[in-house]
Amino acid sequence: MWGGRFSSGPDAIMEEINASIGFDQRLYRQDIAGSIAHARMLAQTGILTQADRDAIVAGLEQVLAEIEGGKFNFSRALEDIHMNVESRLKEMIGDAAGRLHTARSRNDQVATDFRLYVRDSIDTLATQIATLQLELVKRAEEEAETIMPGFTHLQSAQPVTFGHHLMAYVEMLGRDAGRLADARKRLNESPLGSAALAGTSFPIDRHMTAEALGFDRPTANSLDAVSDRDFALETLSAAAICAVHLSRFAEELVIWSSAQFNFVRLSDKFSTGSSIMPQKRNPDAAELTRAKIGRILGAFTSLLVVMKGLPLAYSKDMQEDKEVTFDALDALSLSLAAMTGMIGDLTVNRQRMHDAASSGFSTATDIADWLVREANIPFRDAHHITGQIVALAERKGIALDGLTIEDFKTIDERIDSRIHKVLSVESSVRSRKSYGGTAPDNVLAQAARWKEALTGE
Ligand code: ARG
Repeated sequence: MWGGRFSSGPDAIMEEINASIGFDQRLYRQDIAGSIAHARMLAQTGILTQADRDAIVAGLEQVLAEIEGGKFNFSRALEDIHMNVESRLKEMIGDAAGRLHTARSRNDQVATDFRLYVRDSIDTLATQIATLQLELVKRAEEEAETIMPGFTHLQSAQPVTFGHHLMAYVEMLGRDAGRLADARKRLNESPLGSAALAGTSFPIDRHMTAEALGFDRPTANSLDAVSDRDFALETLSAAAICAVHLSRFAEELVIWSSAQFNFVRLSDKFSTGSSIMPQKRNPDAAELTRAKIGRILGAFTSLLVVMKGLPLAYSKDMQEDKEVTFDALDALSLSLAAMTGMIGDLTVNRQRMHDAASSGFSTATDIADWLVREANIPFRDAHHITGQIVALAERKGIALDGLTIEDFKTIDERIDSRIHKVLSVESSVRSRKSYGGTAPDNVLAQAARWKEALTGE
């Protein structure tokens, strides 16, 4: 492609360090779409004849069919996807192929391809996130009344409903989808026609190619267009945050499915056995989902470091943007699918959750609140009194609702039998009706709101 100035071909090591075809071949669809848009624009603006355009477009469509049919021979000597496609086009249609690269460079070409690829990935991830959210909403409706211990410090804190816990992740995923949508908006400008770095002297129409490729507009500065990868960084950072959410959720599944917790049972489809211990049902899918954040955050960090300190405009360093980004977006996509699968056929052990919620004095706050409400005691004092009540129950080795009214009165005379109404975990969750609180009615209302937002029904 640049033989004119060179007297020898590249060293084998040069070829190995330089070639990107091993990983950038997955950009073939975007690369061909970009070239077709470019060829049509060149003809429209009179830079290319109609006959050449038709030969180029038909040839590119055939290259696409060859790649999709697995009949294409990718060559490392041709470095990357752009040269592989163009070289095959030349074999097919001859000299006209050489006119396709007019008013274009691989620098704006790769920037365009990569933006298109990341945009497609965002769209897939958005659908996957919505699918997982819907699954969670469905399960939350079923489990709106299921009581489980709510934790702080992984210590029993206050009873909550399992539906409420699931809906917490629906909120997080909603923000993840919002971040990706936001990244997509800023990403959606076309670098094509920025050429190597300075633009071109040909009378091209960048608005035409931008529109043909579904971009909102062409990028406004050619140097910026070929030399920034902030669109990938932004997407990776949104992906990393989403992966952190999935990782926390996965960790909870690992804990909940242990014999010691026994809150949930993952289906056979999403569990694995042990080759030595016959009793084992391992939550491997949850563990791997928990781990994927490693490579996703790694990709974000890696690209950030690659970009740091690069002078404008393009440098070959930037070829390192793709492998890690592909890997990270694949990992997030797989994690979302795994989480959707696990949640979809999870068995919930309601009795066990209820029993766990009833132990650990989890309604102590309800007693303190009762003292404030019914006996007009300041909260700080109520807290102290309740602490003595808990200590008494602990000494007697019973739950709070096992205490008699006489027991209560030994701690504070102002307590009367109405206290018994607030001691159950049911009354505790039912009373948490404040906006955003755990009460079953709230859960159902939030689930209905999300269902409408996600499905338009
Ligand atoms: N394979 C290259 C990349 O991914 C394409 C751009 C090459 N540009 C250049 N000036 N060598 O970045």
